[in-house]
Amino acid sequence: MNLSKNSEILIIGGGVIGLAIARELRKRGAGRITVLERGAIGSESSYAAAGMLAPQAEADEADDFFHLCDESNKLYPQFAEELLAETGVSIELDRRGTLYLALTDGDVRQIRHRFAWQERAGLNVEHLSANEARKLEPFISPDVREALFFPNDWQVENRKLLAALGKYAEINDIEIVENTEIKSLLIEKNKIVGAETGGEKFAAQTVVLATGAWTSLIKADGLTMPFVKPIRGQITTYRTAKRLFGTVIYSPRGYLVPRRDGRILAGATVEDVGFDKSVTADGVDFLRENAFEIAPSLVNLAPDETWAGLRPRAADGLPILGALSPEIENLFVATAHYRNGILLAPETAKILADAIVGNVESKYLKIFSPRRFQAAKAF
Ligand code: FAD
Ligand code: GLY
Repeated sequence: MNLSKNSEILIIGGGVIGLAIARELRKRGAGRITVLERGAIGSESSYAAAGMLAPQAEADEADDFFHLCDESNKLYPQFAEELLAETGVSIELDRRGTLYLALTDGDVRQIRHRFAWQERAGLNVEHLSANEARKLEPFISPDVREALFFPNDWQVENRKLLAALGKYAEINDIEIVENTEIKSLLIEKNKIVGAETGGEKFAAQTVVLATGAWTSLIKADGLTMPFVKPIRGQITTYRTAKRLFGTVIYSPRGYLVPRRDGRILAGATVEDVGFDKSVTADGVDFLRENAFEIAPSLVNLAPDETWAGLRPRAADGLPILGALSPEIENLFVATAHYRNGILLAPETAKILADAIVGNVESKYLKIFSPRRFQAAKAF
């Protein structure tokens, strides 16, 4: 076979997951690493995200998924420090915590349930009265009934994170090939030998699929790709002269993320509309309603910018991590991080790099294995 490029490890997909894995592999001494990207690196879901690191606001019980999120969150302070030292880019890790508001009877029941399971699990969570919540964040709605405070749910500026990972690749000899869409994987005698675009071929000893919402579109003879669906999320932003909020603020219907540069991100829609990244009037209205419900003082502001991204979701809503097939040892998948890919990037990278170059099998590779769907029907 005449293959035009040759890598020890080929990572397909240059979002936060592919770039974070590339970095971990480089730190563990892997040889030639190439990241192939359809468009520009860091321009899809990872760019559209809100950057919340929110295991306690987003998980529903203290299960394996929660523990994966929690472990990844705990890696962030060191991850941020290392990236700053390695690249000079601050990812703006903000550890002021997250407030979760109850505004209706149903919300009160919901946050009390959340408080109960988190207290049972020994997590750091505070149940606040409305007055206590307003002391923390004076601009929240007078309709707030009570709230939870999660001191360990944080945020990062995900676009800076992507910039840092891109810079790391640039200065650490990780080859980035943009505008290159892989259509199929090349298999010979039960081994992946590379990938092709339809014209160009890339040889590799190991291939990692970090292709987010597009994972199911890749072809490989005799192999079924995991089923991953795009779920659109729209976010709108507001700008205020002075920073109105310190913490990230959730209600059960939406969230506000205050950024260092004065923007407030109001998120997010959750829409099953295929590969359509349009911004819609309905989406903007929905986001405005949720934002005003949390903080009525935003009512006089016009939205500044609105964008949409495609979250990668598996049939069960959980990440897909590890070797795709028992017969093929050199093909790995890291996808379907759905609503938590920014949060899960450092732990995913560590687990995958350990498996690929260290031969260390994290328990999460069994729990979130792509093989769990073999007997299951797609949704
Ligand atoms: P992506 O960033 O989409 O990257 C995949 C890359 O693969 C893309 O660049 C794509 O072009 C490339 N690719 C695909 N197919 C091919 C191919 N065949 N050949 C070459 N390249 C290919 N997560 C959080 O943790 N916290 C949040 O606050 C948060 N908020 C969110 C808000 C919104 C509105 C959205 C949409 C998502 C949010 N998420 C959040 C989820 C998070 O963005 C995703 O889970 C994460 O970005 C997934 O990372 P990824 O690298 O797998 O995907
Ligand atoms: N985790 C926030 C979102 O996906 O909208």
